[in-house]
Amino acid sequence: MKHGSNLSDNFPQSRVSSQCKTTAATIFAPGEVGHLDNNGAGQDDGWKAHHFDVARLGIDQSSARPVVLLFSAATLWLLIGSSFGLIASLKLHWPDWLDHAAALTFGRVRTVHLNLVIYGWLSQAGIACVLWIIPRIFRTKLRYSSLALYGGILWNIAIVLGATALAYGQTDGEEWLEIPWQIDMVLAVAGALFIVPVIATARARQVHHIYVSGWYFLAAVLWFPVLFVIANIPGLHSGAEEATVNWWFAHNVLGLWLTPLGVGSAYYFIPKIIGKPIYSYAVSLLGFWGLALFYSQVGIHHLIGGPVPTWVVTLSVVHSVMMFIPVIAVAINQHVTVAQNLWALKASLPLRFISFGALMYTFASFQGSIEALRSVNTVTHFTQYTVGHAHLGAYAFVSLIFFGAAYHLLPRATGRGFGSPVMISLHFWLVVVGFAIYFFALSIGGVLQGLAMLDATRPFADSVTVVLPYLQARSIGGALMTLGHFVFAYNLLRMFTSESLAPSRVPAE
Ligand code: HEM
Repeated sequence: MKHGSNLSDNFPQSRVSSQCKTTAATIFAPGEVGHLDNNGAGQDDGWKAHHFDVARLGIDQSSARPVVLLFSAATLWLLIGSSFGLIASLKLHWPDWLDHAAALTFGRVRTVHLNLVIYGWLSQAGIACVLWIIPRIFRTKLRYSSLALYGGILWNIAIVLGATALAYGQTDGEEWLEIPWQIDMVLAVAGALFIVPVIATARARQVHHIYVSGWYFLAAVLWFPVLFVIANIPGLHSGAEEATVNWWFAHNVLGLWLTPLGVGSAYYFIPKIIGKPIYSYAVSLLGFWGLALFYSQVGIHHLIGGPVPTWVVTLSVVHSVMMFIPVIAVAINQHVTVAQNLWALKASLPLRFISFGALMYTFASFQGSIEALRSVNTVTHFTQYTVGHAHLGAYAFVSLIFFGAAYHLLPRATGRGFGSPVMISLHFWLVVVGFAIYFFALSIGGVLQGLAMLDATRPFADSVTVVLPYLQARSIGGALMTLGHFVFAYNLLRMFTSESLAPSRVPAE
């Protein structure tokens, strides 16, 4: 590998300047700093390529097909998955609704919801971001892109099989690991087909430095397969040990898979759209290594009070609290970069989604660290509060970043713009307002539920009735979120069918 020796493959050699020698600026082409990168998402005047995108055209074209496939399929699963979430939510206050078929009972609908949004929507959208950003930061074409395409096809076959199996009651019986292990093997093979192109592209990179998004992505594609395979091996663990491995895996899906995908994407898109390097590149190191060091042990805080050794739980609580360090590091970097350029939020709709998502990462992590304290957990455990927290992380943080990423990168991958900004704004406000209702309803309802359960003078039924209005409010919030997802899918459809095809790959300037 000759670092930086030949960019002509995809990126004109003549454009390398001293500006790109600073590590934080490796995401920019020479001369690009200072240029807002906002074309394509919600432009009234049609789609025009960012001047510098023309120079990256070879790189972008190499990843465009798998990226478009993955985002399209992810959006489909988002629609189906959130509809299942809404059905599950409604059933909690209309228990007799849809009770005639086993496949539509709460236990199955909830499980289908969870698996579709995690593996169908979030994982695919995240992999699409990796496949888009990795070649850009390494300034070379995506290697073996057809493997990634086959990986996408196989992954979706496995999702169809997995969701069908769950609806028919075939499950491995552990939360987040419900998909039968035979189908998990198909997912693992599909995953390997994504990893090979990412590693091969990293090895062929044309820059010496690995930009911070690259650390997060490369770590995620190595961590997750290990977690997934170990946790899915049938018969390896049993009893309390099985529960420990279950929660080690389940929390690490968030921490070592979805979090690096979301944080890595935000680290690329925020400065890229604003046109300025992130606030402090040195601090980003702290954020990455802090996550690597502390996150892997936090999952056992789900078993506080459970039949596992106290020291294992204590270790996990300590690690959960230590997570403040990397989270504050990421917060300083991402929020200060946005705060110093607030004008860009007005100019760029994708940035609005991504910055909101990044802010929610900070909130979700702070909340999680506090929720792991035994004193707090005594109240919140086994309540709807936890579900609110799960959606703060998996939805408000990761999903919002991926919505913004889709609006930003799909016009570049397809050569078509999204058109009307009104529909993108509508999507934004539906999901933000819907989520706010969802989150506050479950947080308040969850605490009341927990306090009722702890009060020995009150009958258990009180803890059920007290939360009822909050569950109804959650359904209203969830319905707005789901509606927002249909608006998102409509925007995507309009983009795919729009007339304004690639002529505008000619630069706007
Ligand atoms: C991309 C969108 C979404 C993601 C990533 C997501 C993620 C999750 C996660 C991680 C859980 C497990 C929570 C836990 O066990 O603590 C869950 C459960 C659930 N979600 Fe979602 N969700 C999404 C959208 C929705 C929507 C739109 C609704 C509509 C109301 C919804 C309703 C539910 C319900 C009812 C549960 C089961 C809660 C329980 O067991 O009491 N979700 N979701």
